[in-house]
Amino acid sequence: MGQLFNEDKELAEVIHQELLRQQSTLNLIASENYASRAVLEAASSLLTNKYSEGYIGHRYYSGNTLVDVVEGIAIERVKRLFNAEAANVQPHSGSQANMAAYFALLKLGDKIMGMNLEHGGHLTHGASINFSGKWYNIVSYGVEKETGKIDMSHVREIALREKPKLIVAGATAYPRELDFKAFSEIAKEVGAYLMVDMAHIAGLVAGHVHQSPVPYADIITSTTHKTLRGPRGAFILSSKAHAVLIDKAVFPGLQGGPLDHIIAAKAVAFREAMQPEFVAYAKQIVVNAKALAETLKERGLKLVSGGTDNHLMLIDITERGMSGGEAETILENSGITVNRNKIPFDPRPARDPSGIRLGTPALTTRGMKEPEMRAIGNTIADILILNYSESIIERAKKTVGKLCNDYPLYPHMEYH
Ligand SMILES: Cc1ncc(COP(=O)(O)O)c(C=O)c1O
Repeated sequence: MGQLFNEDKELAEVIHQELLRQQSTLNLIASENYASRAVLEAASSLLTNKYSEGYIGHRYYSGNTLVDVVEGIAIERVKRLFNAEAANVQPHSGSQANMAAYFALLKLGDKIMGMNLEHGGHLTHGASINFSGKWYNIVSYGVEKETGKIDMSHVREIALREKPKLIVAGATAYPRELDFKAFSEIAKEVGAYLMVDMAHIAGLVAGHVHQSPVPYADIITSTTHKTLRGPRGAFILSSKAHAVLIDKAVFPGLQGGPLDHIIAAKAVAFREAMQPEFVAYAKQIVVNAKALAETLKERGLKLVSGGTDNHLMLIDITERGMSGGEAETILENSGITVNRNKIPFDPRPARDPSGIRLGTPALTTRGMKEPEMRAIGNTIADILILNYSESIIERAKKTVGKLCNDYPLYPHMEYH
């Protein structure tokens, strides 16, 4: 970054300010994390200069001997990490990985059964405004109104009635463990493929604190930048039988040249996720989420489904007389970043819904544990429950400042 600062102060200064923002705020955005310095280094390496359309040993450009080695390392590591038969590490993002999975297995207009966006599914699981909802015939399942949880017998009923060609299990805002075995039994019963999108929980699966989808799903897609703590990107796992179709769908089906610097950074992250410390990290994410959820509940806040099994939770904020958007803003003003989120059966629009989503992966990376989660839970409750006043915000800012000091992020980084 020294060079960037010399050549382009305008941009370097913004990145520096973003470093300070990340260092001095508490990040409870469930889909974010802090990649290691090693991951950041690989992501900013000179591999960005290379064009390598194609796959190992079959590139459409010369000079790819070393890129082949990089991609080979990434593939072998992710296969080992998740005990999978085949892997494609080229998808640029989770959305593109999902698009590739559909492209590999389905024809346009085929029926996909995914989790309703309103209940915690992702846009790419069939939202009408997304390519998935525009190009495929979508049926959705969701959570039960009384419990906020998925009822697998209800999922089975819908699948038997609708006979989808592909069922998607996976979510963006579902705080409970997914039963992949039950999903796979339903998929088999109705003759559907099962795709698991483990974008949010990949780190928990790698750390053995969430059931692995690998024995149950035909295809698994995932991002690399959420609980898995790698660079922004994605990968696809499958059996050997589906691997050729997946590879063709990614390239030349949907993408051109892979991002070789990002593939290198994914490889670094896969190695990190194989270490015993990562297993401890994944465990602590869940322990922290439970501690945070319990504190919020004790203080009278209402959580969708009553709690969490994983890294995230949803607070139904409407009882507090404010919208999710307002809650997001007042928390941000105190140095706590969360995102506004729809809750199941939400009467309010997505741009200003009834809930906020909180997650613990990033704070756990900073080293925080249960006592800090309780302090943060109480601070959030003070802000949301007690009358919003100067003194409460001042106290919250002090707590945030102390925690950020006690658990430094990228301590010796001036710029990256
Ligand atoms: C379950 C799930 N799948 C896919 C994606 C898409 O990932 P990306 O933002 O990299 O396209 C997300 C992102 O939030 C997600 O939560």
